[in-house]
Amino acid sequence: MVDVLLKKKRTGKSPPWWQRAAPKARTFEEVADPVIDATPAEDRAELAAIWQNRAGLELRVASTFSSLSVELLETGATQGVYEVVSQAVRDEVFHAQISAELAARYRGGAAVWPDPEPNNYPTFRGSKGVLHATLYIVTECCINETTACAILEGSIEQAESPLVKAALTTILSDEIDHARVGWAHLASPWVTPEMRAELPSWLQWLHSANNHDLLGDDAPLPREKYPTHGMLSRRRAREITYATLVDIILPGYRRAGIDPSATEEWARTAFKPELAAAV
Ligand SMILES: [Fe+2]
Ligand SMILES: [Fe+2]
Repeated sequence: MVDVLLKKKRTGKSPPWWQRAAPKARTFEEVADPVIDATPAEDRAELAAIWQNRAGLELRVASTFSSLSVELLETGATQGVYEVVSQAVRDEVFHAQISAELAARYRGGAAVWPDPEPNNYPTFRGSKGVLHATLYIVTECCINETTACAILEGSIEQAESPLVKAALTTILSDEIDHARVGWAHLASPWVTPEMRAELPSWLQWLHSANNHDLLGDDAPLPREKYPTHGMLSRRRAREITYATLVDIILPGYRRAGIDPSATEEWARTAFKPELAAAV
């Protein structure tokens, strides 16, 4: 699976992402998108800004995977984990390209490459070495990327714009690998029994930090007014995040011999009882 993925990316012969929306189109400009075309100019400008911002965020995720690669190369991981984590740097640059191109389509005009920006590398309370690397891959892959897959699926389901669906589906196909690699590392001998015993004391803090923006405010998100463009409401994003936690992430920790009971307890309160009852 990993070999196939790498071969496909390295030959550079994959069809352009926008051909998912129009297999016979020869150029991006030829792809028809009645949803984008029917959107008023003011709203298109706002959606262009959202996607342009996303392009910059994707580059920061590339930076995150770059530093995660360095840490794992210095502290140890399986060959398969190295292959996927290093490939993820390239994948995230590709996601930046997709986002910038979609922003250009909304704006009308040429794609603008995002400016460089510094990244915030997590310190995990001053932890070092192999513990830091493990916390890093758990937060980035087991939490962020696993949740991102479910959020992308929810956005694709809701979107009506063919180009938005094509962009999100292409990004999702990579994010699945980025999530799986975290679980693969957690199941590997590079995570020792001592670390499996220590991780439960970190998990609640990692999840709470990860969901800070989503849970810290109840106000609707400004982008909620664009559901047909794949923009999820805060409530829907919370539902999906909670369901992913309960159905995928917590069972994943248990399978890896890591007790997530405290995190489970925290989530019941953090995601509000009415939300828990609705899932
Ligand atoms: Fe991405
Ligand atoms: Fe990713």
